[in-house]
Amino acid sequence: MRPFYLPLCAALWFAASSPTIASQPVDLGKDRAIESCSACHQVTADQKLPAPVPNPDQLEMVAAPSFASIAAAYEGKDRELRAFIKTPQHPMKEQQFLDSDLDAIIAYIHSVDNQRW
Ligand code: HEC
Repeated sequence: MRPFYLPLCAALWFAASSPTIASQPVDLGKDRAIESCSACHQVTADQKLPAPVPNPDQLEMVAAPSFASIAAAYEGKDRELRAFIKTPQHPMKEQQFLDSDLDAIIAYIHSVDNQRW
């Protein structure tokens, strides 16, 4: 490739990865995750670790996994991930979501796959 093409490639890459165009559901999912999940889970790389949650079933404290480790554990398992969020087990509490918000949260979880936190 001649050097002449490089700025064009950079511009295309920027357009394709620009958050306002390409990743709206991911941004929405991040906002929803901060609202609905961050009390117990670390949902962004720079969030401070939340305190462990008491588990009434076992009289012990449970640390919720970070979203990066959830992304790794549920890679390619959208159905299971959706099912768990809709019908969680103790001590995670059940919450109601619009389908579009749930899709966005799942898209956000996938977006942090391959990150380590
Ligand atoms: C009240 C605290 C709390 C909130 C709020 C919460 N979780 Fe959890 N979640 C937990 C805990 C604690 C665990 C670990 C359960 C265990 O290890 O038994 C967990 C586990 C999970 C798991 C992993 C299940 C597995 O297979 O190990 C997923 C996925 C998950 N949460 C997603 C979410 C999402 C998405 C939200 C927001 C919509 C959310 N959680 C909100 C406490 C919470």
